[in-house]
Amino acid sequence: MSLSHGLSTDKNWWRQAAIYQIYPRSFADADGNGIGDLKGVTSRVDYLKSLSLDAVWLSPFYPSALADGGYDVDDYRNVDPKLGTLDDFDEMLAALHNVGIRVFVDIVPNHSSNLHQWFKDAIASAPGSAERNRYIFRDGRGANGELPPTDWPSHFAPSAWTHESVWGGEGNQWYMHWFAPEQPDWNWDNPEVEADFLATLKFWADRGVDGFRIDVAHALKKDLSEPLRMRATMEYEEPRDLNGTGILMDRNEVLEVYKTWRTLFNSYDPPRVAVAEANVHPSRLPLYASEETLGQCFDFRFIDATFDSASFKHCVTDSLEMAKKNNSSTTWTLGNHDQMRYATKQGLHPVVDRDEWLLGNGTSHPVDFEIGTQCSVAANVFILALPGCTYIYQGDELGIHEVADIPEDQIQDPIYLRNHKKAKGRDGARVPLPWTRAGENFGFGDGSPHLPQPEWFGSYSVEAEDGVPESPLEIFRKALKLRRELQCAEEITWHKTSRENVLHFSRPNGWNCITNFKGGRYPMPKGEVLLTTQPLVDGKIPSGTTVWFKA
Ligand code: GLC
Repeated sequence: MSLSHGLSTDKNWWRQAAIYQIYPRSFADADGNGIGDLKGVTSRVDYLKSLSLDAVWLSPFYPSALADGGYDVDDYRNVDPKLGTLDDFDEMLAALHNVGIRVFVDIVPNHSSNLHQWFKDAIASAPGSAERNRYIFRDGRGANGELPPTDWPSHFAPSAWTHESVWGGEGNQWYMHWFAPEQPDWNWDNPEVEADFLATLKFWADRGVDGFRIDVAHALKKDLSEPLRMRATMEYEEPRDLNGTGILMDRNEVLEVYKTWRTLFNSYDPPRVAVAEANVHPSRLPLYASEETLGQCFDFRFIDATFDSASFKHCVTDSLEMAKKNNSSTTWTLGNHDQMRYATKQGLHPVVDRDEWLLGNGTSHPVDFEIGTQCSVAANVFILALPGCTYIYQGDELGIHEVADIPEDQIQDPIYLRNHKKAKGRDGARVPLPWTRAGENFGFGDGSPHLPQPEWFGSYSVEAEDGVPESPLEIFRKALKLRRELQCAEEITWHKTSRENVLHFSRPNGWNCITNFKGGRYPMPKGEVLLTTQPLVDGKIPSGTTVWFKA
């Protein structure tokens, strides 16, 4: 593969890429304000390079009051001053490109924040004005409009409607928000909105950004025809409608938006790429991942799959079949900033209700840290051998665990704050990374981290694992490096094993992967061992272990 300015010139680079998700506020803090920043990312380019990544995806770093961890964007074409400047962005991009790592940014097109200039303009303008028509404003029901216009629920609050008076509006209208009230939904039937997002995509693509992760990609278009439909009249729960005709999600028209984006992406050389976060029925995923639309779509099947052979095999088979339908490539992922840390999921006894456990600050049941991390590494190395693209969430390469006991007064997630404290939320997977074994803030930066780091974080730090061959970090490094060298046609063949809980597959070039999920040791097949996530014992594969070998 030839390289120009550090980047491969292969237009298909994205099909089997290893992409690392950076949650910028929790990655590395260069200026000591307790919040990770872009200079922090630049300062860690050597570390990222040591992982043999093809790309990084940065969660939002735009100006935001953080009502939803940055997914409430005040200005799509700028950097939050607490995280740096556009110059810092350019510097980071150049440094990453220089070592062959491409960059994805997160586009949040379903909603802005309430502090976006256009929403402020909308609140200050009269009902029916062009300013209001960029969002979804409606009169309320009831004699005096005192009831929300419909029964639409919000993901973070009981109702998807908030009265304008909350933000000082002097009229008597309500506006729609699928997420928090600080995240008003755009009116995607308004061409001005469409044009503004094209300008945003162009802004970043012109700066040299290689790809885009599209937040809640299925939600942009709503059925806003009057009278608005009530949800109670629907026979199914969205987004499980298979015809693309629901009220709020996964409507067929949204694909038209992405066709326009695709034209823009293809006007660049190399074409810009995208991945959709679309929580839709699996049969509809290929529509978002086609060559005419976004090209790729997250497949979240593994996130909640039980760590056993049957569910893993099912996920793989299904996902590969789906990707074939539209010439996309699969995306594998075990974690992200919205999920409990994968290692913790595996370290908890399967009967434990994870949400309740988290709500109780992790005190109700013990976590087996060691087994959890072992299984997490084994599962990651399993997915890294599959054809397609792999997304790795920052810290998962360290085998890090969920921080379950964040004190109530430090919780930031609207899932907790807005839902009557019924769910603890996602902060436990967003705690600033430990870089050093000890010392102030475990090397994250000089300022007190925006979420508290627990005592035990140091043993999962980069420093503690660096150079230790059996550590998660070194296993990831080795796997990612080998993966690059071994990459071949996007196919697999399953091989029979003599035990139910062992999966074995190979790639066309003789690259084999075998995972012993549970149970006793399993005899190692003949071949040259390339990598094992735990040492073999008397030539046998222990449980919770993945081995790569050449047959
Ligand atoms: C996506 C993001 C999540 C955010 C939500 C609203 O699901 O991953 O973090 O809360 O969209 O933007």
